[in-house]
Amino acid sequence: MSCPQFFTSILVMALLALMYNPVNAQDDLPNDFDGTERNALLALLSEFNNPFLKSNWTSIMCYKNKPPYWFGIQCVDGRVTGIVLENMGLAGNIKPDALVNLTQLSVLSFRNNSISGNVMGFSYNHKLTQIDLSGNMFDGPIPDSLLTLDFLESLQLQDNMLTDSVPAFNQISLREVNVSNNRLSGPIPNTIVLQSLNSSSFSDNPGLCGPPSPIPCTITNNTPNSTNTHHSHFASIFIVVDIIFLILVVALFIIYCRKSRKMKKEKKRKLVDQEEEEKVDKNMDVEEKGKLKFMDKEMGFELDDLLTASAEGLGKGNFGSCYKIRLCEAVTMVVKRLRDLKPLSSNEFEKNLQAMVGLTHPNLLPLLAYYYSTNEKLLIYRFASNGNVYNRIHGERGTKNRIPFRWSARLSVAHAVARALHYLHLNPISSQPHITAAHGNLKSSNVLLDQNDAVLVSDYGLTSLIALPIASQRMVSYKSPEYQIHKRVSPKSDVWSFGCFVLELLTGRVSTHGAPVGVNCVDLGSWVHRAVREEWTAEIFDGEIAAERGANSGMVRLLEVAIKCCEKSPEKRPEMGEVVREIEDVIEMVEEDDDGDGEFSSVTDYSVPATPVIIANGGGDGDYER
Ligand SMILES: *[C@@H]1O[C@H](CO)[C@@H](O)[C@H](O)[C@H]1NC(C)=O
Ligand SMILES: *[C@@H]1O[C@H](CO)[C@@H](O)[C@H](O)[C@H]1NC(C)=O
Ligand SMILES: *[C@@H]1O[C@H](CO)[C@@H](O)[C@H](O)[C@H]1NC(C)=O
Ligand SMILES: *[C@@H]1O[C@H](CO)[C@@H](O)[C@H](O)[C@H]1NC(C)=O
Ligand SMILES: *[C@@H]1O[C@H](CO)[C@@H](O)[C@H](O)[C@H]1NC(C)=O
Ligand SMILES: *[C@@H]1O[C@H](CO)[C@@H](O)[C@H](O)[C@H]1NC(C)=O
Repeated sequence: MSCPQFFTSILVMALLALMYNPVNAQDDLPNDFDGTERNALLALLSEFNNPFLKSNWTSIMCYKNKPPYWFGIQCVDGRVTGIVLENMGLAGNIKPDALVNLTQLSVLSFRNNSISGNVMGFSYNHKLTQIDLSGNMFDGPIPDSLLTLDFLESLQLQDNMLTDSVPAFNQISLREVNVSNNRLSGPIPNTIVLQSLNSSSFSDNPGLCGPPSPIPCTITNNTPNSTNTHHSHFASIFIVVDIIFLILVVALFIIYCRKSRKMKKEKKRKLVDQEEEEKVDKNMDVEEKGKLKFMDKEMGFELDDLLTASAEGLGKGNFGSCYKIRLCEAVTMVVKRLRDLKPLSSNEFEKNLQAMVGLTHPNLLPLLAYYYSTNEKLLIYRFASNGNVYNRIHGERGTKNRIPFRWSARLSVAHAVARALHYLHLNPISSQPHITAAHGNLKSSNVLLDQNDAVLVSDYGLTSLIALPIASQRMVSYKSPEYQIHKRVSPKSDVWSFGCFVLELLTGRVSTHGAPVGVNCVDLGSWVHRAVREEWTAEIFDGEIAAERGANSGMVRLLEVAIKCCEKSPEKRPEMGEVVREIEDVIEMVEEDDDGDGEFSSVTDYSVPATPVIIANGGGDGDYER
């Protein structure tokens, strides 16, 4: 401490380094860009077990400055500014860090519920003006983080089971505080704000004493009884402050060193990137605009347009966040922000994406553009407005909004998906096509329907980009028997995923491998095997299609195909080409049985919901954690 200049310069440098951290810039985005706030609310919801909220907090949360779609939520500019859930009988605990990501929160009320546990922290909620937690079962101390809220006007904590002492509130803004009917103890701190309150703010706390309460404090109540202890207190505080100060200096110094090293590295990497980019093969059918690369030269937008357009977080997918971008009335896209990638150079990344560009099949969701920088990798897809097949199979079951998903429509979905996979297997993206799955993540939530209900398979081609530990946890093909046993996947793993997908189509049951978190599911493969062995085959099929006239023989044929695809041993599974042919046989057979109604060209007639349901999915990877 003898060298203040040294310390100041370190401090300044450390602050500068922190300011240049690109991650901080994210806080300035106007929208809940990557669904962080939405996820924070959904995490909160999962603690409450409240059926009304569970059904209400779905689809869009806030859209620009439209009134919020979620009960009890207030929004400004797409950010959550208020949570008011009063008199709802909410029970459960709220995690201490539940509000960490709701940085714009201004009003918070859980008045008159049955929430228990400790009061959450408020260290990241500097905009809070009103907090009402009264009439719950909160216990433990009043958190000190409340002292840091400089705009707090009203704090209602009465009628809980809070213990310990009252923190020394002294924010000038604070007009109303009520801590009555708790289990607080000790003297009421001698601050201007607390002393100016009405005594009824402190009533019914057995251990609380001193003004403004009418109960005087006796000597035993925490007042230090001799100057001696006073002195030693003072000394120990001094030492503690000193140590903290030292630690801080060291920590700042370390942070500074790391940052500067990182910045140097990044600079170097950027230079290398630039050189590489200049080398990009001019023969490729890709036009460069800024750093956003387009697959189709007609697309007239740039990265800035994307960043300033209205964005709606679709939630977190398996490999990063997705959000929906509306450039103008006609142009809606889905941007997928990739995370957890293999450490690829821009060149390698490019190579993989070039391979994806070459893929054109009517049943594959086309990649429109991509963006690559050291900090950010974006894939930009068409938005498929009619949702995904997972929702089509399982959504709105048992309600009057359910639109039946008919057998013929399911059959043509199976056909389209089989064709897309067949195409992927014939045009492998990977340089080692026999040791990777070409799709890798086929499941019903990744099969999308566009506005004409054309079937579009999404989320393909990421196997070669995603780091293996992440892929093995989150991709469907890594759940296949061969990966479980031999730690190997191959195009046959896609065949297995396809079999599971068809079983889901036929049974209407949620299958283990693609189920969203928290949804009941069955291991469809074993379940169907058991059903066939025990000869209750008829009960296998989804009741919604089993009742259809003349559907049964075709359904059994398709079931046989699916069971073959699900064979434990990859060698016994058919090739996708064979699967396509067999499904075409089934279609032919059903059409003959069906007096030639000719319903197989599309899924259209019966699958467009009467009231368009807004389904959070879009550009692939539709399985958000809800
Ligand atoms: C806050 O958001 C970040 C980024 O989305 C996430 O990693 C983190 O887990 C969130 N924290 C909480 C407590 O929800
Ligand atoms: C949620 O409830 C509010 C108020 O009851 C209603 O206006 C809103 O439409 C509901 N949203 C959904 C998605 O059900
Ligand atoms: C508290 O909430 C319950 C519902 O949980 C309601 O019945 C009761 O009237 C509420 N009490 C007050 C004082 O608002
Ligand atoms: C305290 O407030 C109550 C009602 O809130 C009022 O009846 C009472 O007179 C007040 N007491 C003082 C000392 O201001
Ligand atoms: C504080 O809360 C108690 C219990 O709900 C109530 O009786 C009292 O009037 C309140 N005091 C003030 C000042 O709001
Ligand atoms: C006051 O301090 C002395 C030691 O200095 C201690 O023995 C005594 O118990 C204390 N009295 C009270 C009431 O805390």
